[in-house]
Amino acid sequence: MEYQSPFENWYTYSTVHKPLPDFTCETGLVLFPPELVPGVGHPLVDKLGNHATRRLMMRKLESYNAFTEKLEYKAVMAASIKLAQDPQAFGLSEQAGREARLIVTDESHHAYVAIELIKRIPGFSELPPLASSQPPFLRGLEELEKSLPAEFADDLLIAFVAISETLITSILRGIPRDRRVVSAVRNTVRDHCIDEARHHSYFVYVVHQHWASSAPDRREILASLYAKLIRLFLDPNIDLCRACLLEAGLDPHDAEVVLRDYYSPERVAAGIRADSFPTLKLMERVGVLDHPTARPAFVEQKLID
Ligand SMILES: [Fe+2]
Ligand SMILES: [Fe+2]
Repeated sequence: MEYQSPFENWYTYSTVHKPLPDFTCETGLVLFPPELVPGVGHPLVDKLGNHATRRLMMRKLESYNAFTEKLEYKAVMAASIKLAQDPQAFGLSEQAGREARLIVTDESHHAYVAIELIKRIPGFSELPPLASSQPPFLRGLEELEKSLPAEFADDLLIAFVAISETLITSILRGIPRDRRVVSAVRNTVRDHCIDEARHHSYFVYVVHQHWASSAPDRREILASLYAKLIRLFLDPNIDLCRACLLEAGLDPHDAEVVLRDYYSPERVAAGIRADSFPTLKLMERVGVLDHPTARPAFVEQKLID
């Protein structure tokens, strides 16, 4: 696939060259779309009063931004640096390698804005720190790395980041237009979306080239890896949700009831399929799904029938 730079107007349109978003938090508006916050609207949480709902919303916004920071620092920037330093290893053109450095800059800025946003939400400074555990995607990547021959460690990271950069999650899609949500959050997500549209085209090219430049042994590994990486990126962090529900005032039994209701297997599967749709189409176009080991892996991860 020929490289068509999505960065031609980078100095004009990238958000790192713009002022910080307007961080206004209007009273009466919510911090996050309620239906994306497990427990909000559930009768067991409603019984606890407004305080519980507000705490759940704050924790959701906090964990979403903390996740963004970790993903940018530990995965996307690390992968983009590898692409910049050795583009040929993944079949990229010299120009694509050079421009990977612009992604490093964008992502570093996203991490900065994500944390600034949390700090500026009224009431956050009074919250006790959330017990910070390693996000599941980092644990999952470590486990997958151990299961692979050492020479495929970089392929794992590049494939994971290519997946995460080509997925369009319901959060990025919906929030900028959601008038129920405070401006601070909508503006921040909107800015992020503007840069990510460019990254999306870049990583579509990366997936094409990574696959096309791979020898049969690397294809064999990638074919089953992609399905696992999509699940790894999209699977909900149930432990974190449970901790938030307990903190909001539910007892352990009621927290499990809320989790079971919110994360029913059918609902999780439908959400993952919706979010992974563009990436699954990409897998089809690139030819990954024609590989004999890919289809069973995608079926096993419940991404296709
Ligand atoms: Fe980003
Ligand atoms: Fe990105």
